[in-house]
Amino acid sequence: MSKKRILSGMQPTGALHLGNLEVLRTWVRLQQEYDMFCCIVDWHALTTLYNRTEEIVPAARLVAADYIAAGLDPERCSIFLQSHVKEHAELHLLLSMITPLGWLERVPTYKEKRENLQLSDEATSYGFLGYPVLQAADILVYRADAVPVGKDQLPHLEITREIARRFNHLYGPTFPEPASIVNEETAVIPGLDNRKMSKSYDNAIYLSDDADTVAKKVMTAYTCPTKIRKTDPGIPEACVVCRLRRIYDPDDYELSWEEDRRGERGCMQNKRELIDVLNSVLDPMRTRRRELIADPGALESWLDAGAERAREEAAKTLRLVRSAMKLDNPRP
Ligand code: TRP
Repeated sequence: MSKKRILSGMQPTGALHLGNLEVLRTWVRLQQEYDMFCCIVDWHALTTLYNRTEEIVPAARLVAADYIAAGLDPERCSIFLQSHVKEHAELHLLLSMITPLGWLERVPTYKEKRENLQLSDEATSYGFLGYPVLQAADILVYRADAVPVGKDQLPHLEITREIARRFNHLYGPTFPEPASIVNEETAVIPGLDNRKMSKSYDNAIYLSDDADTVAKKVMTAYTCPTKIRKTDPGIPEACVVCRLRRIYDPDDYELSWEEDRRGERGCMQNKRELIDVLNSVLDPMRTRRRELIADPGALESWLDAGAERAREEAAKTLRLVRSAMKLDNPRP
């Protein structure tokens, strides 16, 4: 039996943070078991960076370095840029012809983003509305069996299945309907301000932050608001520092939480200890990341190899698709 195939992707809209790292850790586990495609979706990044396009190419390289630093093995899985595999664009175009507008307008991420970011009319572009069609193309172009995603992406997976179903119905069975793999254990990482960690909230700790930056950020983190003095009892569940400690020091955090509850330790001690914990998680990644960035040629050849493997599979799919749609031209 050949391995099942999975695909996942992240947008290169900036450096990856601890929240992204939780997702990557799931991918790292899955690469053992599956034939895995790890895409850096640089065309998707254009939906938000269309007026700062110069940021995309460098960010894509940094994301690739972060993928590998976090433990994805480029010999085992294909790591590549979406824009290096033109078949994503061709399939996107073909799928766009069979995707009803109503499906796209209903996607909650579309509605939310429009409202939350209060985008100008200019930014609510055709490409922005079509974002899920491009995502469906990313997935279907590899005829992926499953997609590891966070819960926020489930509507995109649903529309991908709907598009696959509609294609299969119109032109004959071509695509499997990809399942989602949602890791229930993936921790939601709190940001420094006690909201969900997110680049757009400016509350993130990045994989690229050096030890001093991590220390400075932790010192500003939100702590239990009713604990004023060191001897006041704390509520560790209400303290970002304690919650991060639990996530990154799962075997040893308990005593520190008990002491915190009894008012036997202060926020400063919590913060100092968390800084050490975080740095010991980040240090091995920093080293690997630094090596990768110092040798752009090596990184580029990983990306070339990943794209080549991806192109091969994507080209096979497009031959099937053109044939199903009776679009085979005798002399292309
Ligand atoms: N929409 C995804 C996100 O914002 C990124 C993405 C694009 C993706 N194409 C994909 C994820 C294909 C999984 C599979 O996180």
